[in-house]
Amino acid sequence: MSVGAPAPAAREPVLEVQDLEVEFVTEDGPLRAVRGLSYHLEPGEVLGVVGESGSGKSVAAMALLGLLPKTARITGSARFEGDELVGMGRDEMNAVRGKRIAMVFQDPMTSLNPVHRVGAQIAEAIMASGTVEKKDAAQRAVSLLERVGIPEARTRARDYPHQFSGGMRQRAVIAMAMANDPDVLIADEPTTALDVTVQAQVLETLVAAQAETQAAMILITHDLGVIANMASRVLVMYAGKAVETGSITDIFDRPRMPYTLGLLGSLPSIDAEDERLTPITGSPPSLLNLPPGCPFAPRCPMTRARCLEEEPQLRPVGGPGHHAACHFAEELSAVDRPDEVFAVTAADPVMTDELEGPQP
Ligand SMILES: Nc1ncnc2c1ncn2[C@@H]1O[C@H](COP(=O)(O)OP(=O)(O)O)[C@@H](O)[C@H]1O
Ligand code: SF4
Ligand SMILES: [Mg+2]
Repeated sequence: MSVGAPAPAAREPVLEVQDLEVEFVTEDGPLRAVRGLSYHLEPGEVLGVVGESGSGKSVAAMALLGLLPKTARITGSARFEGDELVGMGRDEMNAVRGKRIAMVFQDPMTSLNPVHRVGAQIAEAIMASGTVEKKDAAQRAVSLLERVGIPEARTRARDYPHQFSGGMRQRAVIAMAMANDPDVLIADEPTTALDVTVQAQVLETLVAAQAETQAAMILITHDLGVIANMASRVLVMYAGKAVETGSITDIFDRPRMPYTLGLLGSLPSIDAEDERLTPITGSPPSLLNLPPGCPFAPRCPMTRARCLEEEPQLRPVGGPGHHAACHFAEELSAVDRPDEVFAVTAADPVMTDELEGPQP
């Protein structure tokens, strides 16, 4: 592109993760928490990362920011605005973490210091940029607290974290995350620890913060319901891998991976007449010694011989950006209800027979 020419429509991703691997050295041997994860994040978009507990969501996020213990071996690449995060030195990382990439964790006390006043901590975060005077920072902290919905922010800024409710503490963390106008916000189960009655409000606050800062956001959750109204794209993780990626419509209306169907089946239906929940039975595999084949095979209602031998790779399954890691993804296009697939049991051989067609 020559200087002065109009910018092309395509935008550079703000974050590009490629083949990210995280292995922990444990007493029982190597534990592969993240296995070849690749994704990108467009400026200003909200990417929902979803999967059951233990699927590697947090580890994958923490690997980006150098937050894992020394027992973690990280390989692959994560390019953030042109800088490589994997292997980045401590000083350089300190200039990224909390400033250009801000985080909101499940437990607000991960980010808040119990012995300092809330307002002072937010001011501290503002001053970390090195360009704001103390008095202005204190003023800005109050205005950030106002913006995240803390009533009587000027007075409450002088409170200690324990004087805040859980919801207010998480709002304060969101205010702190906004402090340096980050380009990426990573929110890891930001409402999981909160009372259900305040979860929706705090999510709204988070989205408002994202919109205001125009940051791209990675919203990590075990609950597909949380991202339904918030994300534009979804990455489903299982056993350390991305097993399906796509737009919200791809994931909710035409999932191509039985695991995604299972997650959808675990959501309470909005349809009042249909109270059936069809959660996935069993639990995710141990990442210490993964057997060959599809890691979801022991729990999958569509498993057959090939699934036990060969692990499916993420591949295009339809529209742009829609990828799934299932040998038999195409068969799901014929099924429009998760409970139809997940109702299949050994006692119901009809469906199993139907699925037992010639292998592609
Ligand atoms: N410090 C660690 N040492 C060893 N294993 C870990 C460590 N942290 C996480 N793990 C393991 O990595 C896997 C992925 O964990 P995590 O990313 O926290 O899952 P999620 O956030 O999806 O619930 C799990 O099997 C977990 O036990
Ligand atoms: S590859 Fe086989 S076991 Fe894995 S999700 Fe697809 S059908 Fe199920
Ligand atoms: Mg987690």
